[in-house]
Amino acid sequence: MYGLPSLHASNENPHGQENMSCEAMVVYYIILGKLMSISILPECNPYIDAVDQLNREAFGSDVEPKLIKLLRERDELLISLVAIDDDKIIGHVCASPVTINGNNHSIAGIGPLSVCKSHRCQGIGGMLMEEVIAQLRNNDFAAAVLLGDPNYYHRFGFSSGAAFGLQNEYNADEAFMAMELQHNSLVKISGLVQYVSAFKEQGA
Ligand SMILES: CC(C)(COP(=O)(O)OP(=O)(O)OC[C@H]1O[C@@H](n2cnc3c(N)ncnc32)[C@H](O)[C@@H]1OP(=O)(O)O)[C@@H](O)C(=O)NCCC(=O)NCCS
Repeated sequence: MYGLPSLHASNENPHGQENMSCEAMVVYYIILGKLMSISILPECNPYIDAVDQLNREAFGSDVEPKLIKLLRERDELLISLVAIDDDKIIGHVCASPVTINGNNHSIAGIGPLSVCKSHRCQGIGGMLMEEVIAQLRNNDFAAAVLLGDPNYYHRFGFSSGAAFGLQNEYNADEAFMAMELQHNSLVKISGLVQYVSAFKEQGA
């Protein structure tokens, strides 16, 4: 878990990018008889170091923190959400734009997603996924893609990207997944999905 210098989250535009609807979501639950609350909030400046540390620990690598830093610097984070428990950052997810055959179809690539080791398997990754999907949908994104374990991401509605006629740059098969966020939005769209160049530059 990674502490914050101050925790005055606001819904102001956190990094200068176009603001998406960023209502704080607070989920209450009980673990071992103790009432807990997890807040899902947009990332803002005081959170950045903690997000960096969380991703370094969760992935055991510098690739993801460096990738997120580059996306942030280039204003390519469409959404960046943190999960907070007791003033500690315990989870993070972000989304960035992707193109298909070089064209913008309002499709987002979700990820990286991370939850600190001490808080895994408590539904926090799920809360972050549900919220990033909801925010993309509410902001009229047509679809989302991601690379990951289908056993995890199927539960959120993702299925084979190839079945939608989408290819990826990583030669991933079942790990490459897509989800329509609007009705039949991928019916007339097919081709090569490309993430922004920060992914290749960081070896992600
Ligand atoms: C993947 C990750 C974000 C899941 O977070 P989490 O808060 O533990 O997930 P949830 O509590 O919402 O879901 C837990 C469920 O997902 C399953 N699960 C967790 N990670 C999984 C993975 N990598 N592959 C398949 N299933 C996974 C758990 O077994 C559990 O299953 P159950 O509901 O059947 O018991 C977390 O394990 C993590 O940070 N991993 C390291 C970074 C990473 O690999 N990120 C994903 C790639 S971008």
